Amino acid sequence: MRRMAVFASGTGSNFEAIVRAAHSGQIPAEVVLLVCDRPGAPVVAKAQAAGIPVFVAAPKTFPDKAAYERAVLARLHEKDVTFIALAGYMRLIGPTLLNAYPERIVNIHPSLLPAFPGRNAIARALEAGVKVTGVTIHYVDSGIDSGPIIAQRAVEILEGDTVETLSERIHRVEHVLYPETLARLLKKENPMGITYAKERMF
Ligand code: GAR
Repeated sequence: MRRMAVFASGTGSNFEAIVRAAHSGQIPAEVVLLVCDRPGAPVVAKAQAAGIPVFVAAPKTFPDKAAYERAVLARLHEKDVTFIALAGYMRLIGPTLLNAYPERIVNIHPSLLPAFPGRNAIARALEAGVKVTGVTIHYVDSGIDSGPIIAQRAVEILEGDTVETLSERIHRVEHVLYPETLARLLKKENPMGITYAKERMF
C-alpha cells in the first residue's frame, strides 16, 4: 500500500474526494498527511475531522522557500510518504521537493492545459469565450502547471455559464477524474499514458 500526502491551500473538495477513494479502496494508497501552506484554510479542519495528520505552516514564517520545503520534507520522511498529490496547492514546488520525489508529484488543474495555466483558470476560460474547457492531471515540474500531461477530460461551456456554474461542473469532473487517475498511476498501469474523454457529447 502506497503512503501518500496531499498538498492543498483552500477548500479541499479534491482532498476529500481523494480521501474517500483511498478509504473505499479505489486508490491503492493511504493518505497519511495533509500539507497546507495557509493556516486556517478549510481543508485543515477537513483533515482533522478525518483523523489525518496535518503539517500546516505559512512559508513566510521560514527564512526562505528552501527552508520551508526542508521542513515539509522532514514531515514527509517521518510519515514514509512515497507519492504526493497536489489538490489546489497554490504554490510552485521548488527543487528541494522535486529532487526528493522525482516523477512522484502530480497536480490537478481546472483547464485543458496548456491553455489557461496559473490562477483563475476557470474565469479566464470563460472570459476568453472558448466553448470547451476541462480538467488536466499532470506530473509536476518546476514551471506553472507545465509538467507532462497524464489525463484530461473536457467540460463544455454552456450558454449563460457563470464562474460559479462552470466551477461547479468542473469540480464534479475533478472529483471523478483525480481518483480514477491516481488509482491508475498507483497501480502502475500505463503511468505515462494519456486518456481523453468528453464529459458529454455535443
Ligand atoms: C481545483 O479546481 C484545482 O483544480 C485548482 O484549485 C481548485 C481547488 O479546489 N488548482 C489549480 O488551480 C492549480 N493551478 P478544492 O480546494 O475544492 O479541491
